[in-house]
Amino acid sequence: MSLLDTVRDAAGRLTGHPEPGAVPDPLIGKPGAIGRSLPRIDGPRKVRGAARFAAEVPADGLLYAAVAYSAIARGRIAFLDTTAAERAPGVVLVMDHRNAPRLKPPALFMTKPQAAGASDLPIMQDDSIHWNGEAVAVVLAHTQEQAEHAAALVRATYEEAPATLDFEAAKRRSRHPDSVMGEKPVLEQGDAERALADAPVSVDLIFRTPRHSHAAIEPHAVTAWWEDGALVLHDATQVLNGVRWTLADMFGIAEDRVRVLSPFVGGGFGGKGSLWSHQVLAAAAAKLAGRPVRLNLSREGVFRLAGGRTPTEQRVALGAREDGTLLSLIHTGCVAMTPHNNCPEQFTFPARHLYRADAIRLEQSVADMDMLANTFMRAPGESVGTFALECALDELAEKLSLDPIELRRRLEPERDPTSGHEFSSRHLLRCFEMGAERFGWHRRAPTPGTRREGEWQIGLGVATATYPYQRMPGGAARIVLNRDGRAVVSMASHEMGMGTATAQSQAAADRLGLPVEDVTFEYGDTSLPAGTIAGGSSQTASIAAAVAAAAAVLATELLKLAGNDSPLAGLGVDEVEMRDGGIGAREQPDRHERYDSILRRAGRDELVADAKAPPPRELKRWSMHSFGAQFCEVRVSAVTGEVRVSRFLGAFDCGRILNPRTAASQFRGGIIMGLGLALTEETQFDPRSGRIMNPSLAEYHVPVHMDVPPIEVVWTEQPDPRAPLGARGIGEIGITGVGAAVANAVYNATGRRIRDLPITPDKLL
Ligand code: MOS
Repeated sequence: MSLLDTVRDAAGRLTGHPEPGAVPDPLIGKPGAIGRSLPRIDGPRKVRGAARFAAEVPADGLLYAAVAYSAIARGRIAFLDTTAAERAPGVVLVMDHRNAPRLKPPALFMTKPQAAGASDLPIMQDDSIHWNGEAVAVVLAHTQEQAEHAAALVRATYEEAPATLDFEAAKRRSRHPDSVMGEKPVLEQGDAERALADAPVSVDLIFRTPRHSHAAIEPHAVTAWWEDGALVLHDATQVLNGVRWTLADMFGIAEDRVRVLSPFVGGGFGGKGSLWSHQVLAAAAAKLAGRPVRLNLSREGVFRLAGGRTPTEQRVALGAREDGTLLSLIHTGCVAMTPHNNCPEQFTFPARHLYRADAIRLEQSVADMDMLANTFMRAPGESVGTFALECALDELAEKLSLDPIELRRRLEPERDPTSGHEFSSRHLLRCFEMGAERFGWHRRAPTPGTRREGEWQIGLGVATATYPYQRMPGGAARIVLNRDGRAVVSMASHEMGMGTATAQSQAAADRLGLPVEDVTFEYGDTSLPAGTIAGGSSQTASIAAAVAAAAAVLATELLKLAGNDSPLAGLGVDEVEMRDGGIGAREQPDRHERYDSILRRAGRDELVADAKAPPPRELKRWSMHSFGAQFCEVRVSAVTGEVRVSRFLGAFDCGRILNPRTAASQFRGGIIMGLGLALTEETQFDPRSGRIMNPSLAEYHVPVHMDVPPIEVVWTEQPDPRAPLGARGIGEIGITGVGAAVANAVYNATGRRIRDLPITPDKLL
């Protein structure tokens, strides 16, 4: 099979665009740069401090911004006194709703193809307040310290309006969202409640998960200025083109009058996957001041202005036969949301495709609250949904006196249980086998609370991990081939530290038949061909599909250019492949010409190929998901209730791994974030005021080195024949199942079921 085993149209003509999924990517299984543990290409610049992040971009006449936050959750500003702030040292300007430029509200994401608004609330356009912590004023000063000082001098009084601040109360008025990420909020197959009632063995359980806040190393930041009515925004974002389109729409200017740059991002995790108010405020303030503005949110600012995970209450009920096979699978529940956003935490999605059951009932509802819009946070829905589902499965296994891995073996479906589609590639049981062997699962004591060393009770737990394969529409790539045979491949994509630049250089090198040193991958700038969101673990496949399409166009052009004097003369585009620095006939090693030779003979300095990725039709034909098995060992102090995770192993089935080094780091990072979810992370929301009470890393506890044990990561190495490069995404699956693996291990250690995250010591005493 060649690179150019492409789609033909109805008339049998080649369209020039390989359609991912129709045939396996010809690069699958081909030795080359893919699969090598190359170090990060951007690493040396980062460790030398030479990589410029958004808050480090220099600008002449730069002003520093600080934000004053509202102190009520709902109502209006009765009186805003900015005089003391305006008189404070170094202050140049104070912007509030009275002098801010008039702007359209942001278009909410998913309402239009490029819309990226995290919320559709207007930003600083009137005196109304919608959450505690909303920006009421932005102070611009000569230094950051002057701006912060002056922002503290802004005085506001409010007329408060009744606000919904209590999740329990809000739940009583819950509603079905229009859609849950494009799916209906209710899915029913058979009568699951009745099957549950009739089942000989059953569990029916409620699980709760709290709010979480984003805590990337780099706080959200922008440096913005205007040039002749055009906006330049250096941003920390994972959705360049969405930020560009949405800002252009808000400011009423053409999309090409906005340029967004984001070559380096210090972690995103979904928190930088939308347009929040700080980007808009910085652009508006820069316009008002006529000078460049830097708005680098403080850590508190991230908690107040950029949303995170929302609380959930979930019911999982399982009805089984004595052999463990399921008569009934029910997963329902409610999340807090705002009426202005669109993030209902798809916690029932794992249950759609994981296990075989005679009857299935899935339902999601949302409870509207007056709070900061919640957003994507690493495996939104799946991370907390797998906590509930996988803990319930563990409880059922116990009731059945079955090993929890054996129970999952008995529930393995032939096809996707809800869509009925064939799986593109599924090796979940292999993950359990690999993991069990390496982790020493056989050492788990079947009776809980029976292994102890001094004060430490020891237990093992296991859970399934899963995350969908996704590929976003709308991406485009460009390949510029130079006369010296080197290539520059570009797309407005994102490097948040996960290894995009490195893995995509490897992939492009193999695609073009070039050594990786001869390929440069450019990204992080909307002046490049359109990128797609680095979210939903979709970016690797989205880029690969666009580059494959551009490579097909390039090959077509090269054959034309080669002409009759080339050994390639007479060959059609579907008879060749890109190899050894040029183009060659498939299965004819001698018929080959190098790129530099073709370009020189044609008198060309370079050849440019642009192409759009074909739409992600593979998603409609196949059930495409990644899988994993998470193994955890905990030690729980019988004296203090403290839980220490002492060993962890994740075994994953994510298709082809492009770079083992960067992939292992992604998996480990996901697991570490999952340890925070399991044990420590909780955004404290005061139900009287709607104020987030712990907006700092001193009080919002993410895992630190002492909390993280050695984490072993293994994978199946089974390429997905339906995904570009055979690769499904790996950014999010690492966190899924971790909460359950920890909770199940805590149960095995102590005999205590904690169904309410995080598992803090007080819950175990
Ligand atoms: Mo991910 S939460 O889609 O960045």
